[in-house]
Amino acid sequence: METTEPTEIDLYDPRSFVDGVPHGAMARLREATPVFRHPERAMLGWPEGPGFWAVLRYADVVHVNRHPEIFSSHVGATQIRDPAPEDLPFVQQMILNMDPPDHTVMRRVVQRGFTPRRMEAMRDDLARRATMLVDRVIEAGECDFVRDLSADMPLMTLAELMGVPLEDRGLMKGWADRIIGYQDEEYAAGSVAEQAGPQKVNPRSREALSDMFEYAHALAEEKLAHPGDDLLTMVLTADVDGEKLSVEQFENFFFLLAVAGNETLRNGIPGGMWALMEHPDQRRRLLDDPSLLGSAIDEMLRYHSPVVHFRRTATRDTELGGRRIAAGEKVVVFYAAANRDPEEFPDPDRFDIARTPNRHLAFGSGPHVCLGARLARMQMEAMFSEILSRMPDIEPAGDPVRLGSSFQAGFKRMPVSYTPGPTVLG
Ligand code: HEM
Repeated sequence: METTEPTEIDLYDPRSFVDGVPHGAMARLREATPVFRHPERAMLGWPEGPGFWAVLRYADVVHVNRHPEIFSSHVGATQIRDPAPEDLPFVQQMILNMDPPDHTVMRRVVQRGFTPRRMEAMRDDLARRATMLVDRVIEAGECDFVRDLSADMPLMTLAELMGVPLEDRGLMKGWADRIIGYQDEEYAAGSVAEQAGPQKVNPRSREALSDMFEYAHALAEEKLAHPGDDLLTMVLTADVDGEKLSVEQFENFFFLLAVAGNETLRNGIPGGMWALMEHPDQRRRLLDDPSLLGSAIDEMLRYHSPVVHFRRTATRDTELGGRRIAAGEKVVVFYAAANRDPEEFPDPDRFDIARTPNRHLAFGSGPHVCLGARLARMQMEAMFSEILSRMPDIEPAGDPVRLGSSFQAGFKRMPVSYTPGPTVLG
């Protein structure tokens, strides 16, 4: 890649995100240089990298995702930093890091665990779980919205969906913290990577997460010996055109679910709450007309997109937004920027819970579009309908602390207060 271009903000540096996603700077960049060569500075113990093409416009992001034959998820996987060469073949077996036709086969296998019927069957349980979570804090009149209300919803849902014993859900939380929060000093602390010192072990590698992969391996053996009625058993035993998941593919799928289905919501639920608290008129509107909840949740995901970016690699020389991209170069789609593109969303910085149409990209697009989107929306619906009816006056009780990450936009702490009320489940 030729020399990188000056940019008013480093979109890869987690420090650029500690006060929230830098939407103002992103908007100026999207306007001036919608596709540009972004530097990859040395940081967090990583050496300087070759740089990447940052893609900020909605139409360009959709174009990249629609053409996996040009913009591959497989060649260099989907994180900005390249995996260590010895790790690459392993991570390439994760569905997220596959291209068609392999991806298409794998997706058909795992999709069987995500049928609308299977998801809808969880709806009552989600509502009960939301009631239980609000019960835990309602009498106190104050809590930490992230730790006390948001974190357990996706963990418990995933544990149930995957057939992981409930007592092991703390393990899943720890793995997700280490993987996603690896840029954040507090979350990364205690991980193998941290103990080994910078640059010795990639925190997302198989080595750093050996406890998680061992757990997945043992769980697979257990499920094959004693099949249950859960997603993991289904995925392990599915047979599509004679294709079955290899053990390594299964371990990778477990890893992906433990992260993708967990941290995204732990960030997405507080993100949505923050948007509602910042816009009392929209909160009032939702309280007055709860039928707007579905569209409000999509607007929360557009306005506060939990996943900031994903990476692809150009497989051949190509053109995007008038720029010439060479084969082998990294291309990074910024969902958070595309979701504020005025070409697609009139008045994009306005939070409008009835926005129509709202074709946001919080769940990505194209062949890799999020498999858990329905389940994610269902969990948010369960949480927000419970919170709005039982804590209608919820408000910030101090400054929130955001996650130091340029990959996930999230919150670590969000103190809130509300009028105390009685428990429902007793
Ligand atoms: C608000 C919550 C969520 C958000 C914002 C989110 C976001 C995303 C995004 C942006 C992608 C596309 C990745 C790419 O472009 O390469 C994706 C893929 C994926 N998500 Fe989600 N996700 C959420 C919840 C979930 C849940 C609850 C699950 C499962 C229980 C899940 C499972 C997956 C899987 C398996 C993929 C990979 C699909 C493939 O590669 O074909 N996600 N997600």
